[in-house]
This record gives sequence, C-alpha cells and structure tokens, in this order.
Amino acid sequence: MADEYIIETFDLIKRYPMGRQELVALKKVNLKFRRGEFSGVIGPSGSGKTTLLNIIGSLDTPSSGSVVVLGEKVETLTPYRSAQLRRRHIGFIFQTFNLLPVYTVFENVEFPLLILKVPPAERRQRVMAALEWVGLADREKSRPNQLSGGESQRVAIARAIVKQPAIVLADEPTANLDAENSYHILDTMVKINQELGTTFIFSTHDEKVIRYLRRKIKLLDGAVVADKHAQPSGRET
Ligand SMILES: Nc1ncnc2c1ncn2[C@@H]1O[C@H](COP(=O)(O)OP(=O)(O)OP(=O)(O)O)[C@@H](O)[C@H]1O
Ligand SMILES: [Mg+2]
Repeated sequence: MADEYIIETFDLIKRYPMGRQELVALKKVNLKFRRGEFSGVIGPSGSGKTTLLNIIGSLDTPSSGSVVVLGEKVETLTPYRSAQLRRRHIGFIFQTFNLLPVYTVFENVEFPLLILKVPPAERRQRVMAALEWVGLADREKSRPNQLSGGESQRVAIARAIVKQPAIVLADEPTANLDAENSYHILDTMVKINQELGTTFIFSTHDEKVIRYLRRKIKLLDGAVVADKHAQPSGRET
C-alpha cells in the first residue's frame, strides 16, 4: 500500500569532501516511519543525526540514495515542489529555537501560514489555536527577547504545528532547556502526537527525551546500529 509508510529512506549516503579524502556522514541508511510514530534518532555528536533529519526534511540532499515522503520521491521533485512538500507537510523545531527577533510571538507563529497564503481571519484563528496548544495564548504580543528559553521553544513548537503538518522533525529540541522545561515541551509534543496524530522524529542525546520515545534508532558513524520499539518510561520520578 502506497501510504503504509509516511517516510522511507533507501540506501541514503551523504559524503562531504575533506581535502583529498572525504567524510561519510551517512552510510546506506534504510529507515521506514509509519504515520503517528513518536521516534528518535540517538547517537553521539557527529554520528549523522542532523544530516539525516535535514535530508528527510529536504533541507539537504543526499549524495546518493532516495527519500520518499508522503509517497513523493523527493529527489525527483523540482525545487519548487520539494519546497511545497516541506512547507505544507513538515514542521521543524531546532535546538536554538530560531525565532525571528523583530516579530511578536503571534507573527512568528503566523509566518508559515503567510507563506501558504492562508487568509487573515483563518490565520488568526489557527495561530491562536496553536498558541493554546503550547499554553502561550496570553503572550501573543511578546517578542522573543521577553521570553524564557522554555517559552521560546514552546513558540517554536506552535510555529511548527500551526499548519498541521503530517511530520515534525525536532533536532535536539531540549538541548538548551533545563529539566522542568524539557519535560514540559515533551509532554506537549506527546499530546500533539496523540491528539493530532502528528508523526514526530527527534534527534537527541538527552536521556529525558529518550525516555519518552516509542522507537529508538541508534546511529553510530553514519550507520544505523539499532532500531527498537520501546515503552516510553516518561518523566523521571
Ligand atoms: N557541511 C558540512 N561539511 C563537512 N562536514 C560536515 C558538514 N555537516 C556535517 N558534517 C560532518 O558530518 C558528520 C555528521 O554531522 P551531524 O551534524 O549530522 O552530526 P550530529 O549527530 O547531528 O552531531 P551533534 O550531536 O553534534 O549535533 C560530522 O562528522 C560532521 O563534522
Ligand atoms: Mg546535530
């Protein structure tokens, strides 16, 4: 069935030239993700986690191999269609939040909807709904420099989900947060996963995140060395 997997990678290889040698950041990565999974790519620094997420999200291209997202073979799409796929269906959350400092919370979350040309009244309603999800509706007029790290990341989550994407890719989303804020955003993402059915793929080496994952994919030197389903153990008590 065409729709059985929401994401599939086939023999993904990523090489970076390094003088006369080359660095192989991904070595034939074959992974399949089902809709609604809550999974994470785990591995030490330099193991290829960000490279893999960026290729899945078509922010980067593989040296060889193939990525199929929502039934579309990404490397065969024109740059325009690949951008459309990303804008409509994939939300990104980054370690450093990446909010636009001159814009308000509302405007930061609204941004993906402007790109999709959503009409103003619907934009307002969807932005406020996304801010409700992360518990920050009362901060819509604040600017990023008036927010704590945890609040900033919650705004970034709202921005990632406001278009109701099928997939959210979260690259070390808790790396700059303390434990309490990390658990808060993890609980929020679990709720979004369960109630909206959004597929999540994390990259992380944070034990707190790992405890929440339903599937743990281990990368070592660019190769998948383990791929296990797990019962999430949740918050440390
Ligand atoms: N643009 C680039 N040019 C050359 N080498 C790169 C580039 N981007 C990444 N690499 C190399 O590819 C390898 C994988 O990098 P990647 O950023 O995917 O690792 P990571 O697992 O995300 O690490 P971290 O946990 O530190 O974020 C590393 O050895 C890195 O130095
Ligand atoms: Mg990384």
